[in-house]
Amino acid sequence: MRWFLLLVGGLILIAGNNVWGAETADPGKKLFESKCAQCHGKDAKGQPKMAPVLMVEPALIDLTRADAAKLSFAEKVKIVTNGKNKMLKFKKKLTDEQIQQVVKYVESLQGVSAGKKK
Ligand code: HEC
Repeated sequence: MRWFLLLVGGLILIAGNNVWGAETADPGKKLFESKCAQCHGKDAKGQPKMAPVLMVEPALIDLTRADAAKLSFAEKVKIVTNGKNKMLKFKKKLTDEQIQQVVKYVESLQGVSAGKKK
């Protein structure tokens, strides 16, 4: 009986891993949610609680607003790398590759890669 439970447990683990794997297949999403969402929100619309903490206008941390979306990929990479005012620099925290992945993910939330702006 014990072997049977182990087998079932193993199968659940494998199935669970697959589900987990699919959800985190985008490394940019994982990075965004762990490094950026506390200020910019999971949906990149800005974490309302953070605006007064950072002492910025809520719109400033909304990455989906038009003038944030229209920055070029390279400009966004530069801001994330070197920071800007209250925006932290990630030069020492993320590799160049990770910064590109996370900016790509930001653009998907901005609707830029889909060719339409929200
Ligand atoms: C401590 C809070 C904080 C964290 C964490 C943070 N940001 Fe920001 N971010 C800001 C603020 C504040 C601004 C607005 C800076 C300004 O224009 O004065 C900003 C601006 C930006 C901009 C430029 C938007 C524009 O309109 O100029 C981009 C792109 C951006 N952040 C991406 C990211 C990414 C990607 C991450 C994670 C790797 C991240 N941010 C993490 C606070 C944060």
